[in-house]
Formats: sequence, structure tokens, C-alpha cells
Amino acid sequence: MDEHGLEIGALRQTPFFAGLRDEDLESVLVMGRHVHFDAGQSIVEQGDVGDGMYIVLEGKAQVDVGGRYHNLGPGTFFGEMALIRRRKRSATVKAVEPVTALMISAEDFRGFLLEHPAVAVAMLEAVVDRLQEVQERIEAWMG
Ligand code: CMP
Repeated sequence: MDEHGLEIGALRQTPFFAGLRDEDLESVLVMGRHVHFDAGQSIVEQGDVGDGMYIVLEGKAQVDVGGRYHNLGPGTFFGEMALIRRRKRSATVKAVEPVTALMISAEDFRGFLLEHPAVAVAMLEAVVDRLQEVQERIEAWMG
């Protein structure tokens, strides 16, 4: 399979893009910019102003959530929180192996969600899953 086919495949693995038509997936690819990070490199740093959200195409990144690490592999996304609420980055995300990602700029991100409400809802579901995971951890910690 050529590189383009692999990219479309990686987007399809992303639950919130899975239901998109081919032409919509193409528009995600056109809107996104390929970015590469070496192992150990920070992709976003807690407290920074958010410039974009990222979809992992290859490799593995980790988000440091209060001393625990959440893995982000191909088909997962991160960096959406700062854009949705126009706040600073809530956590640091690092590449733990070389990472290739598609970065969607803050400017394009909202417009895309407004044009594709199904993607917005699916992204919301993923954010709720993350929130619940954090809540369960807090409850377990508090006993
Ligand atoms: P953002 O705040 O823009 O930058 C850091 C990113 O880490 C954040 O968006 C989310 O994508 C991700 N993130 C933050 N907290 C968690 C968490 N508890 N579990 C998984 N990912 C998270």
C-alpha cells in the first residue's frame, strides 16, 4: 500500500474518523500537516498556548497525567483540550518512540468540527472516557 493509503488507513482506525466518507478523510489529510518527533521529544508542554491538535499516525506518545502515563498510539488524538476551551495545555505529551502525527491547526480545528458534527460527538465521547478514567483513579486513591 502507498503512503497515502496508509494514512487513510490510520485515520480510519481513529474511532471518531471511522464513519467519515473518503472525501472527508481526504479533507482531513489536506488540512493536516505531517509532523515528526524523535523519541524523548516533547510534542506539547503543559502551560503552552495550544497551536493545534494531533492525530498519531505512527509511533507512540505518552501523556503525563499526574505521575501516571497514558499511552497514545496510532489512531489516537491529543491536544484537543486547549483548542476547545482556548486554554493552555493541560499536560505534557512526549514521544516515547519516533512519532509521525497529523497536526490540525487551531484555526482549522473548530471549523472542521462545526462542519462534521459526528466527529465532534465522537471526540466528546473520547474526552468523557478520559475524564471517567481520571475520576476512577481519584476515587481509588481516596479509598
Ligand atoms: P491539551 O490540554 O491541549 O494538551 C495536553 C493533552 O493531553 C490534552 O489536550 C489531551 O489531549 C491530553 N490529556 C490530558 N489529560 C489526559 C488524560 N487524563 N488522559 C488522556 N489524555 C489526556
